Formats: sequence, structure tokens, C-alpha cells
Amino acid sequence: MKRFEERRVLVTGASRGLGRDIALRFASEGASVFVGYRNRRDEAEDCVAGCASLGAEAASIELDLEDAAAVRTSIAELPDLDVLVNNAAIIRDQFFLLQPDADDAEVIATNLNGTMACIRAALPGMIRSGGGVVINVASVAGLYASPGQASYAASKGGVIALTRTLARELARHGIRINAVAPGIFDAGMAQRMDHRVRDARMQLLPMGRPGRSEELASVVAFLASDEASYITGETVVVDGGMTA
Ligand SMILES: NC(=O)c1ccc[n+]([C@@H]2O[C@H](COP(=O)([O-])OP(=O)(O)OC[C@H]3O[C@@H](n4cnc5c(N)ncnc54)[C@H](OP(=O)(O)O)[C@@H]3O)[C@@H](O)[C@H]2O)c1
Repeated sequence: MKRFEERRVLVTGASRGLGRDIALRFASEGASVFVGYRNRRDEAEDCVAGCASLGAEAASIELDLEDAAAVRTSIAELPDLDVLVNNAAIIRDQFFLLQPDADDAEVIATNLNGTMACIRAALPGMIRSGGGVVINVASVAGLYASPGQASYAASKGGVIALTRTLARELARHGIRINAVAPGIFDAGMAQRMDHRVRDARMQLLPMGRPGRSEELASVVAFLASDEASYITGETVVVDGGMTA
């Protein structure tokens, strides 16, 4: 028996990067997967095809996290979700004094408000069906200082605080909510950051290598599975010892 057979999973931001591999991981374990995307429809369809090649049912879903009303409508049209993975996020690297207000607003709107919008939209279905699991993809930047990433760090710190509080609020509905805090990975935004910043951060990695996206996906899948049935409100750091 695969761990997610007969479970419906939505992964936001699964058109590329870490979200794509998280979606594929759920597909490989039998889930029906909804592949969230904002702009990259073709890449999302490619992920859907990847899920299908693993024998899973899959479909893409357009979701702009900055539009809470549209998020509510789109998620309400889905069948009740068993698992919601809030993975989509953006980053705007800049020293705080130089960062335009509009960039701060966009980062908070996407990463924090967008996460809240998705959870709020998924909850009625989870409550109706007797429970569910939410996994929020945060970052070590939400736990430790990350110069040049103030708005991103604030958004991820907010996601971690949200995770703790909602764990207490939602436990009585049979809903668990946990976060993962990745360090530096071999896919996604870390690979697109300024190479000087990335090289400096690579020096902090005790294992001498970034994480592999499968190494994050396996932790997300564990937290979403029944094996983690007594874990809620936690943030699991997945950084190869970078912040140990
Ligand atoms: N990569 C790392 O090393 C690393 C480290 C720490 C934490 N993280 C966290 O891991 C998660 C995934 O990061 P990643 O590196 O894989 O990112 P990525 O490659 O930049 O991909 C971001 C994804 O989010 C989606 N997205 C962006 N803005 C959106 C919006 N307004 N509405 C809906 N979807 C939106 C994108 O969709 P479209 O492409 O379709 O627009 C894309 O699928 C994020 O939460 C990030 O903060 C990553």
C-alpha cells in the first residue's frame, strides 16, 4: 500500500523548483496531485505528465497567491483536499534600506498572505471530510538572520508563527500543520541567486553540497503521512547542518 493512495494533494508552486519534485514524490506514493502554478502553465503540464508517468492522477491548477478571492474560488472548486503543501514563494534580494516598498509588499503578499489564503480556502473541505494535513515550506531565513533578505525572512518567520498557532487552533478538527525550513538546495531560487552570495553561502554547508530536492520532498512526505500522526506545530530544519 502506497502512503498516499486515495489522498488528494495540492502543491502550490509546483511548476518548477522544489515544488515540482514534491509533487512528483506524492505522485510516486499514489496520491492524486494538483499541480499549482502562477505563470508557467507549460512547465506545470510537464509536471502533470511526470506524475501521470508514475501512475498517478494529476491536474494543473492556476493559482495566483496574491489574489485571495481567486484562490478561494479555485480551491473551492477542487474535491476536498487531504494534503495542502504551501510551497509557492518569491524572493527579492536587496539590502533593507534599498528595497522598494513594493517589493516588500509583494513578498509578504505572496509568501505569507498567500499561504494564509490557501489554508483558509482548503479548511472547509478538510473539516468536512474529518481532517487533513498542511505543510508549509518556510526557510532557515525565517529562523536565523539572513542579511539582504529582510522581507523574505520576515515572510518566512510569519509562516513559522502561523504554523504553530494554527496547529493549536486546528487540532480539534483532525488537522495537523507543520513546516519545513530548507537551507540551500540544488533547485529553484537558490540556483538563481547572485553567484557571489551563493558561493559565500556554500561555504557554510558542512556537507560541502546543497540539499537535493528529493531530500526535502521526503521530509514533506513524511510529515504529510500517517507516520507523523502525532506531530503538529513543528518546523523541521532541512539544511544539512548549515545552522546546527
Ligand atoms: N531553493 C532553495 O534552495 C530554497 C531554500 C529555502 C527555502 N526555499 C523555499 O522553497 C519553496 C520553493 O522554492 P523554489 O526555490 O523551488 O522556488 P522557485 O523555483 O522560484 O519556484 C517558485 C514557484 O512558486 C510559484 N509562484 C511564485 N509566485 C507565485 C504566486 N504569486 N502565486 C502562485 N504561485 C507562485 C512559481 O510559479 P510560476 O513559475 O508558475 O510563476 C513557481 O512554481 C519556497 O517556499 C522557497 O521559499 C527554497
